[in-house]
Amino acid sequence: ATPAAERSDLASQLLHALDKEAPLLSAESFPDSNYTDLKAALDRLASRSMVQYEAIQREEVYLEAEGELIATHGSHEARVFEALRAAVDGLTIQELEKTIGDKNISKLGQGKAFRDKWITKTKDGKLKAVADSIHDAAREQLLSIQTSRTVSDPKALADLKKRKLVRVQKVIDFKINKGSEFALEIPEEATDLTAEMLATNAWKTATFKPYNFQALGAEQRSGALHPLNKFYTSDPMTADMPSDHTHWDDVKAVHQDGKYGSIGYRYPWSKDEALRLVLRTHTTSVSASILHKLAATKGPDGRPPPARYFSIDRVFRNETVDNTHLAEFHQVEGIIADYDLTLGGLMAMGITGLQYKPAYNPYTEPSMEIFAYHPGLGKIVEIGNSGMFRPEMLEAMGLPKDMRVYGWGLSLERPTMIRYGINNIRDLLGHRVDLSSVQRNPAVRLGKA
Ligand code: PHE
Repeated sequence: ATPAAERSDLASQLLHALDKEAPLLSAESFPDSNYTDLKAALDRLASRSMVQYEAIQREEVYLEAEGELIATHGSHEARVFEALRAAVDGLTIQELEKTIGDKNISKLGQGKAFRDKWITKTKDGKLKAVADSIHDAAREQLLSIQTSRTVSDPKALADLKKRKLVRVQKVIDFKINKGSEFALEIPEEATDLTAEMLATNAWKTATFKPYNFQALGAEQRSGALHPLNKFYTSDPMTADMPSDHTHWDDVKAVHQDGKYGSIGYRYPWSKDEALRLVLRTHTTSVSASILHKLAATKGPDGRPPPARYFSIDRVFRNETVDNTHLAEFHQVEGIIADYDLTLGGLMAMGITGLQYKPAYNPYTEPSMEIFAYHPGLGKIVEIGNSGMFRPEMLEAMGLPKDMRVYGWGLSLERPTMIRYGINNIRDLLGHRVDLSSVQRNPAVRLGKA
């Protein structure tokens, strides 16, 4: 039977026992039931006012291992006496020890048996039983404790405890009485009020299961913010307005209403949003700022000269961390600005075995995600993103119409994983990096490669 069924059995047994005799003492009427089951059954009945009960604490005396031994085989002195009585000619001390099988018991038993005049020493040095019969009071006391679980004389109890023959244990009994709703059967109880009960009017006569306000309830799992998440700034500091207002106004116009042939995003551009200082999700902000500077640079022909720029820096993303994603990583970004560049130049940049997938970036068109094969993971993983910067972005910064800029942002970590056979990005960056695995990686022995 399930524990619940056993408990309901016990509840019904309790009701029947109470019907015959009240009040009841659980120790007498249900000596074999354990405390938890009994309390659960009683609480169930008490919550329905079918019984009432109180808990009574008392002490019980239990035999320790040595006490058990004496209760079964007799006291040490009695064992010495019995062994000698069985040997008509008496026994030497060594023979006695052998018969009893325990040097210590034999020694302790002799002393007491001598004092009680149960045994004596013969002229030839042997030990002999002299009493006709003995009364093994120590054993009898322990046997009586085994059944009564009490010792009436406190001094005797203290002595037994001191000799480590018994221990005292606290037990709880229940004194049980009939309650105002006492009955032999627990009425059938509804746990829920159902639509059917409402429709049939059954709710009027139904007995509802009482709420158990003592129940601990199911453990609630609640959301929690990792302390580092509180990093995130809900109220970030704001940047100063840029001194160059033309650029500011042009950017606003491109976003909100469209300009330079673009129809724009047509949303209300927010100055406050633009000035928020937040952790950047990519280094393209660095590229944009450098392009703005390039626009103001005059080459030999008075126009911005062709240029190449690179940056390597840390970026932050709201990612679910896994084998290939971290919330922080490094980006290696490159941009090339020149007159009459084409997408083909971007795609043939010297790294082979790459694959491209059309993508969308608000600042490049076309845009392409860059993929490479990771042999360890056995699949193609994204290693970066790229594209031709849009004219409405470049012109807003003051770059000439025929200057083309393309760029790419590679994650530093993903290509490194591919190159050095690392399957988990967390082994490469972050708090879980195992320094010994860095030592073991063959890459560290390959110099600059
Ligand atoms: N900013 C893009 C990213 O983080 C990368 C990129 C850089 C794309 C430059 C185009 C041009 O994914």
